[in-house]
Amino acid sequence: MAGEKGFTLWFTGLSGAGKTTISGLLETELRARGSKLEILDGDIVRENLSKGLGFSKEDRDTNIRRIAFVADLLSRNGVPVITAAISPYAEIRDEAHELMGDRFIEVYVKASVDTCAERDVKGLYAKAFAGEIKEFTGVSDPYEIPENPAWVCDTENESPEESAQKLVEYLEQRGLIPVAAVTA
Ligand code: ADX
Repeated sequence: MAGEKGFTLWFTGLSGAGKTTISGLLETELRARGSKLEILDGDIVRENLSKGLGFSKEDRDTNIRRIAFVADLLSRNGVPVITAAISPYAEIRDEAHELMGDRFIEVYVKASVDTCAERDVKGLYAKAFAGEIKEFTGVSDPYEIPENPAWVCDTENESPEESAQKLVEYLEQRGLIPVAAVTA
């Protein structure tokens, strides 16, 4: 779509907070409006672009810098991007922000370790608490909560659908996505 504004919705939050789920819902909504979109999801990036990287601070930083690099290339060409990686370190998120300037929109996908451990969709928290996975974010590795995110998805108090809907409204208000066609 000519003239569409590129931006990067930078999701950050613990494993199991809802980053992938909310990004999928947003994708459906944005595509329904004729918008372009690319999603850079940590789990998928780690299968190709970041294949072979582990979870040391150094490897996580490399992973996040790669994601930021691609998000910058796309968003500066008018493609909306959602990144969905834990991105635990504020300093590297700030680097991504500097790279993309006002195209960077930090979204904190908020859920506590207790909540994510209760959900434990992938069964990783149980393993992390049992010591079977080392350096697990929120359990045995740091997660630095964003101090001043542009938006917060409060996934302990709203459904993924509600989180996605509110984000869509926020993006509409900022004039970043086409307003939905009125039906009925
Ligand atoms: S990041 O720290 O580099 O941003 P990323 O989002 O790409 O992480 O990958 C996180 C995913 O890897 C988690 O959702 C989980 O499925 C898996 N994973 C495996 N080991 C770990 C670990 N030690 N810490 C966090 N996530 C892990």
